Order: sequence, then structure tokens, then C-alpha cells
Amino acid sequence: VIDVPVRLGPRGYRILVGAGVLDRLGPELAALGAGRRVALVADAGLLGLHGPAATKSLEGAGFGVAALEVPAGEEAKRLEVLAGLWEAMLDAGLDRGSTVVALGGGATGDVAGFAAATYMRGIGLVQVPTTLLAQVDASIGGKTAIDLPRGKNLVGAFHQPRLVLTDTALLGTLPERDFRSGLAEVIKHGIVLDAAYFAEVEVLLPALLARDLAALTRVVGGSCRIKAAVVERDAEEAELRAVLNYGHTIGHAIEAVTGFARWTHGEAVALGIAAEARLAERLGVAAPGVAERQEAVLRAAGLPVRGTAAPAEAVVEALGRDKKARDGRLPFVLAPEIGRFRLVSDVPRAAVLETLRALA
Ligand SMILES: NC(=O)c1ccc[n+]([C@@H]2O[C@H](COP(=O)([O-])OP(=O)(O)OC[C@H]3O[C@@H](n4cnc5c(N)ncnc54)[C@H](O)[C@@H]3O)[C@@H](O)[C@H]2O)c1
Ligand SMILES: [Zn+2]
Repeated sequence: VIDVPVRLGPRGYRILVGAGVLDRLGPELAALGAGRRVALVADAGLLGLHGPAATKSLEGAGFGVAALEVPAGEEAKRLEVLAGLWEAMLDAGLDRGSTVVALGGGATGDVAGFAAATYMRGIGLVQVPTTLLAQVDASIGGKTAIDLPRGKNLVGAFHQPRLVLTDTALLGTLPERDFRSGLAEVIKHGIVLDAAYFAEVEVLLPALLARDLAALTRVVGGSCRIKAAVVERDAEEAELRAVLNYGHTIGHAIEAVTGFARWTHGEAVALGIAAEARLAERLGVAAPGVAERQEAVLRAAGLPVRGTAAPAEAVVEALGRDKKARDGRLPFVLAPEIGRFRLVSDVPRAAVLETLRALA
């Protein structure tokens, strides 16, 4: 088991990463001095797959568990679902000392986390992420939110969990496309923040794709360390806040232009990384060859690096709508080499357009 501390003073917590750590849910929560009532929030599929194990661990440690079902995926992040959770938490007798356990992907974590952030002005939260994206990204950092009809994540709050239990064995049932999509964030972490980690991912990729538990624990644990370090330093260093957006500037634009339907988030990020890597070479920020190494590992992970299914002009247009854009120049996080990042605030639109055309 890899134990990753997130050092945030009184709001600090631990991420426990390992195959089978779900069994420790009850004892770890008891050790934190949590009250006896727990709401276990998950969609029907996850409640069926892992609800019994989570409940057994909690009940074994003396907790009373109310299982609260939410819709699967993004459908969970709606106001009606949130309001239903508040009512169900009251019905279940949750008080200020109670805890919400979010068992699921990022969508479940976001709505359950926002419920915990707001119920009785905030109660305890434990994240038990079950997708690769949630394990290496969404469960860490305390961002919670729901969507509005006009856009994603428009209402939310910062609410740090008291514990993150990251059981890599739960990834065994994750559909292949979701699993590969999560690898885009793993690869991103290595490219901009840690060359040794990137090299390790290159080597372990076949084992990861086979869902080898030792490889998964090592790589997920490594990504948790990287994200935790960013979250810890986020408050002081404004620069660092942007670094995790690598691949996401163009990735988000591709998602928007293709109506959030053609690509998963991770696939759009992979296309974004490939484009931003080529952009860095075009601008002379990165030496030739740096992009190819990024593309090779994305390709090996089964992720797309060519053919955005979106006209280059439309993608650049979508980038320009971003409020950070100024006078035909766009801000980007780029990777001068593997393991390092640089903020470039004034990338000419034309360079982005030419890069996207070359990748079409
Ligand atoms: N809070 C943050 O910092 C943060 C960061 C990144 C993304 N997000 C959010 O995360 C969401 C995306 O999360 P996601 O990619 O984890 O997907 P998701 O939560 O939408 O889940 C996708 C599907 O996978 C299924 N599933 C989950 N785990 C499974 C498992 N182990 N076995 C079988 N099926 C499983 C779910 O039932 C669901 O149908 C978005 O809403 C995004 O906004 C939040
Ligand atoms: Zn992302």
C-alpha cells in the first residue's frame, strides 16, 4: 500500500493506494473519529459491484450505513440529484459528525462531494474512486461541483476529503475505453512534471493495459504523489495551477467543437497533448523529437493522436472564446522537454492553426 499525504495543514489528508484497500474503509474512518452515520453514495452498477464490500467494512467498524443511489455518469451532476441526496441524508439521520462516502467515478465524487460540502454547512467526505481518471485526478484536491444546463461544473465548492481510499483492484471491471482514457492524465503528469515517472509509465504500459495490480498501484500511486504536490503548492504558486491543463487547452476546444460526443475526455486530452507537443516544436520551445516521444506512449496506450474530427478553424475559434485569450494571442502550458513545463502567454493564433492543420 502506498500512503500519500496531502499536506494542507488542518485540511490535510491521506491517499491510500493499493489492491484491496477498500477493506480498510471502516477501520480508517473509525481512526479519524467520524460519527456513526455514513451515507454511501454510488450508482446502481457500483453499488452492486462493490457496495457490499464497502458496507461490510463500515458495519464491521461500528458504522450505520445508508446506501444512496445516484444516476451513472454525468447525469448524477444535476441539481435534482443533489437535492435528492440532501433529503435522503436527512431521512437517514445524518448529522454534523456524519460522513459521505463517494464510491464511483469523478461524476459521483463531484456530486457526493458537493452534497457533503453543503449538507449542514459541510460534513465529512471520503472519496473511494473507481475509475482511473478519478483515482489519479478527480478524487484529489477537493473540487466538487454539479452542472447547469448551460455548462459543466458551474456550481460547486472546495471541500477536501478526510481520506481518499484508492483501491486499484476496483479498476478490474472498468470498461476498456474508460481505462485508456484515464491513461491520458497519467501520461500528462509525467510529461509536464516528472521525467522519471514518464519513463516508468513507458516501461510499465503493457502491464498497465493488462491491469496488472502491482503496476497499477505503482503508477496510480505515482500520479497521486504528483497531483498531491500540485494541490499542496497551488495556493502559493499561481503558475503551478495551470500545469495540469497541459493538453487540455486544445483538448477542451476539441471536446466543445465535437459536441462532447465524438471523444471521451481522455481521448480529447490525448489529441490536445499531441497538438500542444507539435506546437511547442513549431515555436522552438521544444527540441525536435520531444513530441514524438509523447505521441508514441499515447499511441501505445490506444489513444488518438491524429484526426481530431474537428475543423482546425473551428478549434481555434473555440480557443479564442476562452476568456484568457487576448489580441489573437493565446496562453499555453508547453513542455520544453519531458518532465518540465513552461507557460507561454502569447502564442500566435496562426501557429495553432497551422499545427492543427498538420495534424488533421
Ligand atoms: N473534481 C475534480 O477535480 C475533477 C477532475 C476531473 C474530472 N472531474 C469530473 O469527473 C467526471 C468524469 O469522471 P469519470 O471519467 O471518472 O467517469 P464517470 O464518473 O462519469 O463514470 C463513468 C462510468 O463508469 C462507470 N464505472 C465507474 N467505475 C467503474 C468500475 N470500477 N467498474 C465498472 N464501471 C465503472 C460508472 O458507473 C459510469 O457509468 C466529470 O464529471 C468531470 O467533470 C472532476
Ligand atoms: Zn482532464
